[in-house]
Amino acid sequence: MDGTKDWLKQRLPEEATCDILQKEMNKREQSSGFAIGVIGWGFVGQATGLGFGSSPKNKIFWYDKFKESQNTLEEVIKNSDFIFICVPTPIFENYSGMDMSIVEGVIGEVASKITGTHKILILKSTSLPGTIKKMSKKYPGVNFVMNPEFLTQKNANKDFLNPARTVIGVENKDLGFRIQELYKTILPKDQEYIITDPTSAEVIKYMSNLILASKIILANEFYFLSQKVGANYNDVSRAVEADPRIGTFLGVPGWDGDFGFGQACFPKDMVGILGLAKDLKVDMSALEAIWKKNLKVRKHRDWEEMPQAFKKQK
Ligand SMILES: NC(=O)c1ccc[n+]([C@@H]2O[C@H](COP(=O)([O-])OP(=O)(O)OC[C@H]3O[C@@H](n4cnc5c(N)ncnc54)[C@H](O)[C@@H]3O)[C@@H](O)[C@H]2O)c1
Repeated sequence: MDGTKDWLKQRLPEEATCDILQKEMNKREQSSGFAIGVIGWGFVGQATGLGFGSSPKNKIFWYDKFKESQNTLEEVIKNSDFIFICVPTPIFENYSGMDMSIVEGVIGEVASKITGTHKILILKSTSLPGTIKKMSKKYPGVNFVMNPEFLTQKNANKDFLNPARTVIGVENKDLGFRIQELYKTILPKDQEYIITDPTSAEVIKYMSNLILASKIILANEFYFLSQKVGANYNDVSRAVEADPRIGTFLGVPGWDGDFGFGQACFPKDMVGILGLAKDLKVDMSALEAIWKKNLKVRKHRDWEEMPQAFKKQK
């Protein structure tokens, strides 16, 4: 019991009151497991469902509009205390920005059924900064959380259980604490949690992906320069990667044998944020140059063949 108290004290925000502490301790004592719902059973949804399901404490309910599902949407909503939205956020075919209509549609279906309840609606889909603010205004009385996912498609399930950090975007710190409790059932004891507001959590996801994408383009430029001057790019990249401030993944061409960056996430997040920057009149010309360079060096625009990344007009 004392151990639990110390544990909670360490993790609660400084301003936490004794009331919160007591409430959380009661919750922990009474807790007989967590009921978790997942909407959208793709890479992220399955990793989320299987990841939380790896603890016998947790019960998982899931629904996918286009797959034979374990549960109906109604069952997921009724049985779950934590409902994760893991549906696609593709870009428009004309590259003007990100289409948030699938996420917003799902929120619309769920919101009226959980308004005023203790249930929490958690957005894992990569969502444009401002989405949760907009949704909270539209659906007051719903507990919204932005919890961006950083897994890679190649190692989705493993990555989900080994995140570099867990970002929880909430307006109310108490809610953040509940999400942290949920993750504690499956993540290592020394896991880093970053509890912030929803908009910051949304920005964190884009900045992470787009710095990684930019790094790839800079590596491509040095690869071509190395070829021109007769440098050994393998040695160059290995030595540069040895600096922990820079990190790994400077290999050119990439694992798919192509130049620049492809697959679903980096291109679509790039187009999404550039579209938003244009709407908000924010100068992101450096990022824009990175994107233009990617379109120039990349041989195969593979993302255009991925429905989760690219919304083809019918
Ligand atoms: N794949 C990744 O590596 C990765 C990593 C981090 C974040 N993300 C983000 O997570 C989100 C989901 O990506 P994903 O790769 O899992 O996509 P995915 O296409 O693999 O899975 C999405 C699932 O949602 C289902 N779906 C579509 N519309 C639905 C609806 N209205 N109701 C219920 N289910 C619906 C689809 O049938 C599909 O099974 C995206 O926003 C993506 O940017 C993806």
